[in-house]
Amino acid sequence: MFLTGTMRINEKGHLEIGGCDTVELTRNFGTPLYVMDEELIRKNCREYTDTFSRLYPNSQVAYSGKAFLTMAMCRLVEEEGMALDVVSGGEIYTALKAGYPASKMIFHGNNKSAVDLEIALTSGVGRLVVDSFSELELIESIGSQVGKTAQIYLRVKPGIEAHTHHYIQTGQLDSKFGLGLADGHAMAFVKAALKLRHVELCGLHCHIGSQIFDLKPFQVASEVMMDFIQGIKKKTGLAIRELDLGGGFGIRYLREDSPHSLPAFIELIVTTIKEKAAEHGLTLPRLLVEPGRSIVGEAGTTLYTVGTIKEVPGIRKYVAVDGGMMDNIRTAMYEAKYEAIVANRALEEPVEKVSVAGKACESGDMLIWDIDLPKLVRGDILATFSTGAYHYSMASNYNRFTRPPVVFVSNGHAEIVVKRESYENLVINDVIPAHLQKRVERRAAN
Ligand SMILES: Cc1ncc(COP(=O)(O)O)c(C=O)c1O
Repeated sequence: MFLTGTMRINEKGHLEIGGCDTVELTRNFGTPLYVMDEELIRKNCREYTDTFSRLYPNSQVAYSGKAFLTMAMCRLVEEEGMALDVVSGGEIYTALKAGYPASKMIFHGNNKSAVDLEIALTSGVGRLVVDSFSELELIESIGSQVGKTAQIYLRVKPGIEAHTHHYIQTGQLDSKFGLGLADGHAMAFVKAALKLRHVELCGLHCHIGSQIFDLKPFQVASEVMMDFIQGIKKKTGLAIRELDLGGGFGIRYLREDSPHSLPAFIELIVTTIKEKAAEHGLTLPRLLVEPGRSIVGEAGTTLYTVGTIKEVPGIRKYVAVDGGMMDNIRTAMYEAKYEAIVANRALEEPVEKVSVAGKACESGDMLIWDIDLPKLVRGDILATFSTGAYHYSMASNYNRFTRPPVVFVSNGHAEIVVKRESYENLVINDVIPAHLQKRVERRAAN
């Protein structure tokens, strides 16, 4: 059984999360429903912040909002003493609306708009992670117009590509993000930034990938970045004071997944940074990481109601649920794999292999291929696990389905943090121009 955080099976044989019976949750809030285990999110936040403050006090953990961002999540992130990595005007707006301090935001993106940059500068966003020469020029020009100096990080391509179980050191430059070390662009950027009056280069940033289980690539990235800091000092005299190593630490989606412990990961990067600083005679930089998935991923569970069941003889049995690629695009996009159980009969043994289909008009709208489950019937509640990261945040209105609500559960209480979208929400921005309106008006008049 795949149970994480506060999950347990209660005396009714129902899946319980945060002390809430999931079958009850579906009665109260409907399906599909995103359920977030608040206690587990906080536990994950504290594991990061406590381990860093023990091993490397001059550090900051920045939650990566792209994984899952709502106003309630911004409040939680602030309560847990974490900075916030944002990637759009919309994420900045959400955080500001929630009362999250702009000074603790780190603004990413490979093509930030002038409007978003102006909002970031005037609202006092703490750090801007700059991705290109043209963005550097844009920031300088906006900074001079609004009379602000931007505190920036340069996003570097460290030439390491990491995936779940392997990584390659390629010197690879073919990525839309950041500037390369191998082609000299990163160093040229540093020299260019030093000449500008409304930009202060205070740090470097890199992010080597996501859902990484292997620790080695993080070690190599730390080494490469420290070598570059030394290179900058030698060539320009500038002492880089901050180093942001991005996110990417892997989580469990499947029973057989076994990521390293978080403290082991943190210990490795901290040791590497200290060793490299000693080797190069550098002052230890302020160290940042930006976890997203490893904070919220395993804390999320999606509840669906089973609908149509269709057997294709000798081939497979399709079990359709009332959600799909609109609330979980990861199977279609990355061939992601999931565990699931029948939440209302959680102790029953699996008896057959089925494939779980969504309800969108798309053959590729599958949530799980080939999973062993008890015999399902219409009305059963299916719970899919580890759906806290990149699910709600990637949800869409494809086919004009409404996006599901999100509830935080903790100590037997369930609180809505995002309401279910209504059909009215779907048409709120639609406009019927006058020439298409006439026939409706005539019909109404008759
Ligand atoms: C720049 C940056 N930082 C942090 C993250 C968060 O990564 P993860 O959710 O894998 O921890 C991402 C994810 O794509 C990213 O692009």
